[in-house]
Amino acid sequence: MNDKLGIPRVQALKQAGEKIVALTAYDTSFAAILDTAGVDIALVGDSLGMVLQGQEDTLSVTMDDMVYHSSLVSRACRRALVVVDMPYLSYETPALACANARRLVQEGGAEVVKLEGGEEQAQTVAHLVEQGIQVCGHVGMQPQSVRAYGGFKVQGREQHQAQRIMAGALALQRAGAAMVVLECIPASLAARISRALTIPTIGIGAGEQCDGQVLVIYDMLGISPYRPHLAKNFLAGSGSVSAAIEEYVRAVRAGEFPGSEHSFK
Ligand code: KIV
Repeated sequence: MNDKLGIPRVQALKQAGEKIVALTAYDTSFAAILDTAGVDIALVGDSLGMVLQGQEDTLSVTMDDMVYHSSLVSRACRRALVVVDMPYLSYETPALACANARRLVQEGGAEVVKLEGGEEQAQTVAHLVEQGIQVCGHVGMQPQSVRAYGGFKVQGREQHQAQRIMAGALALQRAGAAMVVLECIPASLAARISRALTIPTIGIGAGEQCDGQVLVIYDMLGISPYRPHLAKNFLAGSGSVSAAIEEYVRAVRAGEFPGSEHSFK
């Protein structure tokens, strides 16, 4: 039997009230471990610019980088849905987005492409979906906008920001996005967005009421230089990388991770 997760099965988890477990992966070995451990979504994040390439942000990651790492991850994922980030400036127009997303799908084996932005990306998302390319949105703290924020800062604490993030998530859903990542926003705002949307929300630093959770794999193994407040070190005390990832899967499904100490007010 084909156990591969597609968008309908991932969306059905939200309807059933079951948590969706996501984790980043950048190579075949880690992807195989997370796939075996039962992670639902392998996200080939452009965070690879920071955790693999040692850059201070994600802005220098190229399409060739994403195609290469996507091909390594997709090769290993027998069950997990492979979602791949579109890097900075690769989706400025709907036509450019389509050409680059096609590379991620055809050369990289991506099943879903992810792009950052809310209302301003709705037209691009609709265009990709019309071409048969599945899209994951990403609102809240958008790492590709780090220079505009003046650093990696929690977004949505002010009412006008919160309204813009909510409007963005709704616009992405209307445009046909399959799911939306909510990054570094107050837990109460993430909960409201998760209730308002019929598509799943995948949180990172967005509280426990999102429909799913994602972490950067090196952060949850405690081996990245960043040690962000939103991550927990699952390797400490677990004995092996596979045991750490299995514990992450269990903790997310049981609603034990994230705790309030990994969230923002
Ligand atoms: O690039 C990435 O890894 C991401 C996640 C942190 C959501 O976008």
